[in-house]
Amino acid sequence: MSITLINNETNEKFEFETINCTRGPNAIDFSKLFETSGIFSYDPGYASTAGCKSTISYIDGKKGELYYKGYPIEELVAKYKYVDVCKLLLTDQLPQNDTESLEFELELRHRSFIHRTLMNMFSAFPTNAHPMAKLSSGVSILSTFYFDHAKMDSEEDRQTMARRIVAKIPTLATICYRNEIGAPIIHPDISRSYIENILFMLRAYPHERLKHGLHGEVEITPLEVEALDKILTLHADHGQNASTTTVRNVASTGVHPYAAISAGISALWGHLHGGANEKVLNQLEEIGDVKNVDQYIARVKDKNDSFKLMGFGHRVYKSYDPRAKILKRLKDDLQAKGIKMNPKLDEIAAKVEEVALKDDYFIERNLYPNVDFYSGTILRALQIPVRFFTPVFVIGRTVGWCAQLLEHVKNAQVRIARPRQVYIGK
Ligand code: CMC
Repeated sequence: MSITLINNETNEKFEFETINCTRGPNAIDFSKLFETSGIFSYDPGYASTAGCKSTISYIDGKKGELYYKGYPIEELVAKYKYVDVCKLLLTDQLPQNDTESLEFELELRHRSFIHRTLMNMFSAFPTNAHPMAKLSSGVSILSTFYFDHAKMDSEEDRQTMARRIVAKIPTLATICYRNEIGAPIIHPDISRSYIENILFMLRAYPHERLKHGLHGEVEITPLEVEALDKILTLHADHGQNASTTTVRNVASTGVHPYAAISAGISALWGHLHGGANEKVLNQLEEIGDVKNVDQYIARVKDKNDSFKLMGFGHRVYKSYDPRAKILKRLKDDLQAKGIKMNPKLDEIAAKVEEVALKDDYFIERNLYPNVDFYSGTILRALQIPVRFFTPVFVIGRTVGWCAQLLEHVKNAQVRIARPRQVYIGK
């Protein structure tokens, strides 16, 4: 199919081919729009612009569906471990059996260590620095230890680059947290699973003290590991969101891949994106009581107030975010199995959702809870500190960024990202 654009002033006609997709809307190929017609397309915020062709994740915003490599997210969360999903995103294939799954996980576990010099660099940050700033810097510094990854000629090079950072990101992230609270750094314990290790590195006391029997073993329950596993799966990839687009744009300049991931971490930090999970919890605390919910909903609707309900709304989902649906069920399930949620915050969150979903302002604008609305409640019940919520998002999303970056650099036709502008100055 082709689409004809007619300039009403000059009567000139320009024809553009459409690109067919396997699911979702097709696209007009506007890549030669300027060359043929001399005009630009204008789409600030890229609400109608596809920046790439991709096979990684698919979102149906109307139906509220999300797929990774064609698998519905519900199936992946129910039947597979997060590391299996990592394998799927990086290699196109889920592990065929438990041995394959363990082999992949063992590779990640063995690659989880960080060079001591890099660990020492974290002590240069002020202790109150936000963990996302430290994490983005840490990943950028990581590029100096693996400079060879700037070259990604073979599939082996590309896989090593991606697996290395997926393996190391929990170690880097937990160092950022421990550095903040002034606790000594804990090295990964590779006898533990990828997910258990995250909780271990957050909670553990220094080994020296353990040896002297000053503190008991770190307690991590299988239920907690399962919950964190599912949360990471839900965050693994999500189409061309702001941080993924950042990673692709930065990678398009030919830079070291870890520099592109570091830029993605910075983009994710913002409160309109991944930083919303931290803000949701702060906002629920600020609301403070169910009796105040109506007053906050009124603020949302006040045109003179810039207040927004964190954890609500989405550019693509115009129905309930499927990740939020799963998280809400997971929260109830964990509670039924004995993991304690904060009852007050839980009650406020339920009330906010109830009031918002019945309110015309939210109905007219299709504003529903997104992934960040319930993830924080669960992370908090897993004793994860609020300032570490967005780094948890980073841990889950790093594999998606790697998959997207590899898809981008493997495509010989991609060019440097270089948008135009409509100049309105002097
Ligand atoms: N609270 C109140 N009003 C809202 C909200 C909200 N959370 N989200 C959107 N709106 C209103 C917005 O003010 C606008 O109203 P009007 O038409 O009267 O001007 C309308 O809904 C359309 O919103 P928009 O800002 O044009 O939508 P967008 O696609 O540009 O932004 C968003 C999407 C996620 C940035 C936005 O919904 C938002 O700020 N949500 C709160 C922050 C949040 O939860 N972010 C996490 C997103 S999901 C995870 C992730 O991406 O990392």
